Amino acid sequence: MPDERAPTPTGATPTTGATGATGASGATTATGPEVAGRPVGRIGLGCWRMTGADDATHGAWVGAAVDAGIALVDTADVYGLDWGGTGFGACEETLGRVLAASPGLRDRIVLATKGGIVPGVPYDSSAVAITHACEASLRRLGVDHVDLYQIHRPDLFAHPEEVAGALVGLHDRGLVRAVGVSNHTVAQTRALVAHLPFALATTQPEYSLAHLDPLRDGTLDLCAETGVVPLAWSPLGGGRLVSGDGVRPALLAAMTAVGDEHGLDRAGVAIAFVAAHPTRPVALVGTRDPDRLRALVDAAAVHLDRSTVYGLIEAAEGVPLP
Ligand SMILES: NC(=O)c1ccc[n+]([C@@H]2O[C@H](COP(=O)([O-])OP(=O)(O)OC[C@H]3O[C@@H](n4cnc5c(N)ncnc54)[C@H](OP(=O)(O)O)[C@@H]3O)[C@@H](O)[C@H]2O)c1
Repeated sequence: MPDERAPTPTGATPTTGATGATGASGATTATGPEVAGRPVGRIGLGCWRMTGADDATHGAWVGAAVDAGIALVDTADVYGLDWGGTGFGACEETLGRVLAASPGLRDRIVLATKGGIVPGVPYDSSAVAITHACEASLRRLGVDHVDLYQIHRPDLFAHPEEVAGALVGLHDRGLVRAVGVSNHTVAQTRALVAHLPFALATTQPEYSLAHLDPLRDGTLDLCAETGVVPLAWSPLGGGRLVSGDGVRPALLAAMTAVGDEHGLDRAGVAIAFVAAHPTRPVALVGTRDPDRLRALVDAAAVHLDRSTVYGLIEAAEGVPLP
């Protein structure tokens, strides 16, 4: 199936020296990460918690994010099943109404969604299921295409060749500009990439001071190797790095000390930590507070030096690095 339309991450993706890798769909350039050929900055807006308010409030929230310089808006077909939502598809429907009510907004954002979770199954990435899921997402969002379509969780019983075939079909019909994965191991990602004729744009792992696995499980190494853009979900640990729930006191103390030094609160330190990785992850944040959103955008620009990030890792893990 692979052809030469674009390099695959496991192939010879061209690099541009110190400025990073460039790819057809996802890339890290001198100006920052790009998805579907558009710059996305270091903070993306996550719509998992886009529930429980009226459309005007949701619209003001998205508008505030865009005005703060946020471009990437990430949702999923399954969002709406929790956080007080009304069911599968509800968050996409809400975002669709927000986009319909604000002419021009659609073109100002890099719109990302995900499919492949089917409550009760729980995963189905067969070609038929993914094709229908994406078509349904477009209907709910009221758009003719999304900029990024992601496989939400790996379907262990879908052959990656079949998944890739579905994604290529959606891409060739103009329904998706770029494709990505979420919660995939490196091996699962490589297996999919091997069957894609174009570059994988993104991978979306959980990554934060509350969940450091991508530093060592190969996920961020794969991004460094190939130019796949990491989208870090729950960069504040879903709020726990702020509230302190279930977080080591030593980490909270270290975050407070770093914050005092850099003029940041703990949320800002959490974001600056995610932003510090050389693969330039995009932190997908979920706060519903526009002031907090703006603060997180500013925090992503704060540089933490090596000794600071290693100190935070040691505090998070409770053991000194060798
Ligand atoms: N691929 C996946 O499987 C997956 C899984 C989970 C999430 N995600 C993505 O990641 C996105 C973000 O997830 P998340 O909402 O868990 O992210 P998060 O940014 O780590 O957590 C957001 C939570 O932190 C709270 N918070 C408390 N103090 C805050 C402060 N000072 N600043 C900012 N937030 C503060 C927010 O509450 P307030 O609203 O009150 O500020 C909100 O409830 C999702 O919307 C989704 O796009 C993906």
